[in-house]
Amino acid sequence: MVDFLDLRRQHALLRDRLASACERVMARGSFILGEEVVLFEEEFASFLGGGHAVGVASGTDAITLSLMALGIGPGDEVVVPAFTAPPTVVAVCRSGARPVLADIEEGTLNLDPAEAEKVSGPRTRALLPVHLYGNPAPLPDLIQLCEERRLFLLEDACQAHGASLEGRPLGTWGACGSFSFYPTKNLGALGDGGMVVTGDAGLAARVRSLRDYGRSGQHLLDEVGLNSRMDELQAAFLREKLPSLERWNRRRGELASRYLRGIEGLPLQVPRLPTASRPSYHLFPVFTPRRDELAAYLRDRGIGTAVHYPLPIHLQPAFSFLGHRAGDFPRAERAASRALSLPLYPELRDEEAEEVVSALRDFFS
Ligand SMILES: Cc1ncc(COP(=O)(O)O)c(C=O)c1O
Repeated sequence: MVDFLDLRRQHALLRDRLASACERVMARGSFILGEEVVLFEEEFASFLGGGHAVGVASGTDAITLSLMALGIGPGDEVVVPAFTAPPTVVAVCRSGARPVLADIEEGTLNLDPAEAEKVSGPRTRALLPVHLYGNPAPLPDLIQLCEERRLFLLEDACQAHGASLEGRPLGTWGACGSFSFYPTKNLGALGDGGMVVTGDAGLAARVRSLRDYGRSGQHLLDEVGLNSRMDELQAAFLREKLPSLERWNRRRGELASRYLRGIEGLPLQVPRLPTASRPSYHLFPVFTPRRDELAAYLRDRGIGTAVHYPLPIHLQPAFSFLGHRAGDFPRAERAASRALSLPLYPELRDEEAEEVVSALRDFFS
C-alpha cells in the first residue's frame, strides 16, 4: 500500500514539540492574536527574506483580504487562470469583484500572459496568477503587463511555500502574496490558517485591521472587515514546523527527481518550469489522456492518487454566472481531463516511490 498522503507520519515525528506548543498556549491563556501569531508572522516574513506578514484564518481569506485592502471590490475585475483550485476564484467573488478567466499556458499550465492581456479591460484592477503545484507562474511577463495596464499583481502562493523564481521567493513579487496553511500544504497547520505577505507597511496595517472586523482601536471600527484571525494554537504549531520547511521541500525535490528519472520515456507529460525556477514540489502531477484508467490501475496495485483538478473553473456550477461554456478554455479543459497527482510528501519512502514508478512502467508496457 502506498497512500497518496499520510500526514500521521510527520505528526508522529513532531509529536512532543507540538504537544509542548499546545501546553505553552494553554499556560499563557491567550488564544487569539497573541504572542505566537506575532512571532510566527515575524518568522514567516523573515523566511521570505523580509517584508510584512499578517496571519489570517485561511488561504482563501488571505486572497479576499488582500483584494479588500487594495480597495478592489464591486465593479472591479480580477484576472484569474481558468485552471486552479476553486478557492482562488471563491476568494475573488467574496471581495465583491468579478473574476475574469484566462486560459493557461500550454507548457507551464499557469496563467498565460497573452491570454491575460486579451481579457483585461477598463474594469480590470489586478492579475491573480496561481503558482499551481508549487511551480512558478511566468511572473516577469505578468509584471510587464501589470506595468503597462497599471494593474496590481497578487500572487496565489497557497501551494508555493519556499519556492522561488530567479532567486526571489514566490509570494513576494507583487503587491501582496497569499499563503495557505491547510494541513496538506508544504507547511500545514493542524487546522486552517493563512497569511498575507507584502512589502508595503500601509497595506499590511490595513489587512491587520480588516482581519479583525475592521478595527482600528479596541472599540473603534474604521470599516467593515471580516473575522479572519489566525489563532494562537495554529501559529504555535506552525512555528514548530517552519524550521523544517526547507528540508521537507528538499526531500520533495529528491522524490520528484526520482519520479522524473523513473518515468523517462513513458507517454506522460509533466509541467514545464520557467528558467531559474525552484518549485516547492507541492504536488507531482502527470498528464495522460488515459488518466482514469491509470488511476484505477494504480488503485488496484494499492497506490493512492488524486486529481488536481478534475473541473476547470468555467465548468464548475458555482461559476456558471460567468456565462462560459465547454470549449471556452481548451488548455484548461485538457489539463483537467488529464491530470493525475502521484504520492509526494517528505515522509514518503524511496521504496514507496520506486513502487509507484514500477507500477507506472508496468501500466505502459
Ligand atoms: C491554489 C490555492 N488557492 C487557494 C487555496 C485556499 O486555501 P485555504 O484552503 O487555506 O482557504 C488553496 C488551498 O486549498 C489552493 O491550493
